[in-house]
Amino acid sequence: MTGEKIFVVGGTGNVGIRVMKDLLQKESNSVTAYVRSVEKAQQLFGNPSNLTLIQGDYTDLTLFEKSISGHSRLFLIVHDPDIHDIPKYAVALGERAYAADIQQIVVVSGLWAAFPYRSSFIGDASYKAEAGIAAIPNRGTLVTLRPSILMTNHLWIEIHTIKNANCIAGSIDSDTKEPWVSPDDIGAVAAIILQDPISKHRDAVYEMNGDVKTPQQRAALISKVLDKEIKYMQLTAQQRYDYLTKKVHMEHIKAYDLILNPWSSETKVSLGLPLLLGREPETLEEWFEKNKAAFL
Ligand SMILES: NC(=O)c1ccc[n+]([C@@H]2O[C@H](COP(=O)([O-])OP(=O)(O)OC[C@H]3O[C@@H](n4cnc5c(N)ncnc54)[C@H](OP(=O)(O)O)[C@@H]3O)[C@@H](O)[C@H]2O)c1
Repeated sequence: MTGEKIFVVGGTGNVGIRVMKDLLQKESNSVTAYVRSVEKAQQLFGNPSNLTLIQGDYTDLTLFEKSISGHSRLFLIVHDPDIHDIPKYAVALGERAYAADIQQIVVVSGLWAAFPYRSSFIGDASYKAEAGIAAIPNRGTLVTLRPSILMTNHLWIEIHTIKNANCIAGSIDSDTKEPWVSPDDIGAVAAIILQDPISKHRDAVYEMNGDVKTPQQRAALISKVLDKEIKYMQLTAQQRYDYLTKKVHMEHIKAYDLILNPWSSETKVSLGLPLLLGREPETLEEWFEKNKAAFL
């Protein structure tokens, strides 16, 4: 199969870096990345001959509109600090992409989009972004990835307590099962789909849980990897909310969502994920081993 002409939005983040690296590996792919910082992108990817960098921002789509034509596929992450704006930007990008004859969009949404209608702020925004793109008339295909909790959250939410208080904290019971996924696995699946025949995935929606652990199990495996005792500290909703808003500087609506427990006791690793990846998904233990240095 010959290479693809792929446009990437969000290529310099946790998930996007893996998408970019996998796509660039095949010389016949032609990859255009729409980035806020060309310098950051060059540091991450160097200057391979199959990469074009466009300095742009999705809050102003003038350059996006000029540069998207001539591509067949779009990888899309809209990760805005203001959750309410996510559907607006996602739909605006989708409309312009399909109008320029993009045949496939692979969008990163979230598992919360599948929760009951308007039962969480994060889920509502993810659902509206997905539904808004899906409702664009005469569009190409739309593949939606719905990851559960990103393992990289440990690098900004849990890092302070792991380093300074030898604990992970949360408001859920210590034996509640939580689903986790590695951003590398999300990126790897996206890159595979972007190079598969478009007709294979059509309008697929893929749930992505790579590992399921209770907070107690998670504390035990972090202890093993870091070789020091890390405990799970169960906080009241107010204590957890205060930590998320004051220490992690999370806005009210995100912090409010994160004190809730939306996970069912039936939560499982996604059966189809190894099928999409062509291998077993990364476990939390493997992710911690790889990122150990950040927590020491
Ligand atoms: N955290 C979770 O547990 C969780 C769970 C489910 C789903 N998700 C979803 O997963 C995705 C997060 O992926 P990630 O971890 O890869 O995010 P990330 O590391 O924060 O990366 C975000 C990417 O978007 C780019 N970006 C941000 N604002 C932009 C703008 N205004 N214009 C153009 N590009 C912009 C960033 O560029 P810079 O490099 O310039 O910053 C970066 O490339 C989101 O869609 C989120 O909703 C997250």
